Amino acid sequence: MNKLRIGIAGLGTVAQGVLDLVRTNGSLMTSRTGIELVVQRIASRSVKPGVDLLGAVFSLDVHDLVADPEVDVILELIGGEGLAKELIESALAAGKPVVTANKAVIAAHGDQLLAGGKVLLRFEAAVAGAIPIIQSMNQGLAANRIDAIYGIINGTCNYMLTVMEEEGLVFDQVLSQAQELGYAEADPTFDIEGIDAAHKLTILAALGFGTSYDYSALYVEGIAQITVEDIQYAKELGFKIKHLGIAVQSEVGLETRVHPALVPVSALLASVNGVMNAVQVVSDGAGEILFSGPGAGGAATASAVLADVLSLGSLFVAGPTDAAQSQVQGTPSSCAVSEISRVAMDDVFSACYLRIPTLDRPGVFAQVASTLSAHSISIEAVIQKEHPGGDGSVSIVIMTHIVVESVVNAALTELSALDSVVGEIIRIRVAPTH
Ligand SMILES: NC(=O)c1ccc[n+]([C@@H]2O[C@H](COP(=O)([O-])OP(=O)(O)OC[C@H]3O[C@@H](n4cnc5c(N)ncnc54)[C@H](OP(=O)(O)O)[C@@H]3O)[C@@H](O)[C@H]2O)c1
Repeated sequence: MNKLRIGIAGLGTVAQGVLDLVRTNGSLMTSRTGIELVVQRIASRSVKPGVDLLGAVFSLDVHDLVADPEVDVILELIGGEGLAKELIESALAAGKPVVTANKAVIAAHGDQLLAGGKVLLRFEAAVAGAIPIIQSMNQGLAANRIDAIYGIINGTCNYMLTVMEEEGLVFDQVLSQAQELGYAEADPTFDIEGIDAAHKLTILAALGFGTSYDYSALYVEGIAQITVEDIQYAKELGFKIKHLGIAVQSEVGLETRVHPALVPVSALLASVNGVMNAVQVVSDGAGEILFSGPGAGGAATASAVLADVLSLGSLFVAGPTDAAQSQVQGTPSSCAVSEISRVAMDDVFSACYLRIPTLDRPGVFAQVASTLSAHSISIEAVIQKEHPGGDGSVSIVIMTHIVVESVVNAALTELSALDSVVGEIIRIRVAPTH
């Protein structure tokens, strides 16, 4: 029997999920892998008397995990960037492997933490919860050139858009409901403004395309401007609105962007609803693969955390630390040799949905159409109906043909300045297709 002694930093949702899964499935894991997981030590800032620590030593200082010679592997489950980064660095410096669920720390500091290809840092749980996407990218798809990655990688956004579509509830109502159900944080900023999804896309782009872990290089938009009206118009046009992380390799470079997007109702991603996550990977050999599953929650995330722990454990069982190091050296994440050129958002091409609130008077549509035409934007479809609010305005909804972002931006500025346009113009890009 090979014992692997784990030290856990944090005692929140994910850490408790790990304890529950070790308690219920520990013997199963041992019979499958030959590794007996022992929770040796837990360190968190507050005591939780009701939680079964499985006999682990408890302390309040997470640095105790690094100092304890009886801890073989450290699980960083506190979140955030400051202390988490410090803990990961000190553990790695002490030669202890680390498993983290922390997308923020990897998206911001991955290059540094993974530098040199000699680190034992795993982060399966950082992207899309239970879905084994990191392992799939690193190993299962290792023989392929990746062409595109599309992800529904924020469960809060997907839940909110789904409920808005199915129940017709407005954004604020759905947000309150999501908070009551525990699907959204009390401060939902990270989720609804797209930051969480951007952290995850940063990691996926690094794995798929060898980019640096540079969260700031992404274009990011959240879902706050999406209305039930837009969802209904999109449906009439044959689309669903999804909040997508998109990393696409084109002839001119790599697009990395996070924003609401129109997805054809027939597309695989259109059927991923509620809090579910999905990642679609398009590659030359394997074609289109859709990974789908729960993206959050204690048990689901613990599944990914423990997958990392067991895979590290099996390397230790197979041989000394060197074996593990050589395995990690082989991952695409640590093999990036040169930074790929990124396409600036202004240079991205997409078809667009535009909802333009206008005065209900003759000649307005002609004015809008002629402004678009002056920018060489051609129209594919139009919907024009009375505004449901009955305030005298009408929404002109236009689907454009594919056009470059900078041209749409210029046209939107001009349209907004028309005195017949009486509110904010909503623009939603159509997701690229392969
Ligand atoms: N929840 C999910 O579904 C999910 C899914 C995927 C990834 N993740 C990631 O997993 C990580 C943990 O998430 P979580 O949901 O478990 O968070 P959480 O419930 O807030 O738990 C965090 C734990 O860390 C402790 N902690 C925070 N700061 C600390 C400090 N300075 N010193 C010592 N302990 C500290 C907290 O103590 P208190 O108990 O005193 O607050 C809490 O026990 C995050 O990186 C998150 O992004 C979470």
